[in-house]
Amino acid sequence: MSLPEGALRSLVYSSEAVTRFYQDDLDQLLVQARQHNQSVDITGILLYKNDQFIQFLEGPPEAVDALMETIRRDVRHTNVRILIDELTLERQFDEWTMGYHPMKNQTSAALPGFRDSFADIAESPDALTTGRAAKELALWFRVRAAKRNEVAA
Ligand SMILES: Cc1cc2nc3c(=O)[nH]c(=O)nc-3n(C[C@H](O)[C@H](O)[C@H](O)COP(=O)(O)O)c2cc1C
Repeated sequence: MSLPEGALRSLVYSSEAVTRFYQDDLDQLLVQARQHNQSVDITGILLYKNDQFIQFLEGPPEAVDALMETIRRDVRHTNVRILIDELTLERQFDEWTMGYHPMKNQTSAALPGFRDSFADIAESPDALTTGRAAKELALWFRVRAAKRNEVAA
């Protein structure tokens, strides 16, 4: 079956860092990731908290597949779990070759709903819960970024 023209693959996974990532490690990862992602038309976001990653990737299906294979083999993290893998016609993160947000100082009081979504994704074995939580998290990230732009404008 051929894909509809312009179809994008939207993929979300969670994983666990093997050793803690400090700011320098993340900066290094992001510089390389953004450069590569731009060259293959991939956008997305990376979230990191308590040694857990959640990453959203979207782009041409073959490019996302190839990147996911590379990421899966990366020895810096383990327990890679695909939470969402679907086709879509629209990007959620078209402004980011790889947006990043560290989560360590966030509290549920400051960000209602956020902590629960992250914990649901990291801990729940149930695909329905993780899928829903991932979508909430994506929405939260976009709303937050839009607010930041308002302030900056
Ligand atoms: C959590 C995590 C997220 C990553 N995200 C990306 C990414 O979005 N794009 C990318 O090119 N590499 C990403 N990487 C790095 C790749 O796994 C890999 O190291 C990099 O693409 C270089 O691969 P190469 O040595 O085969 O060229 C990520 C690594 C980790 C641990």
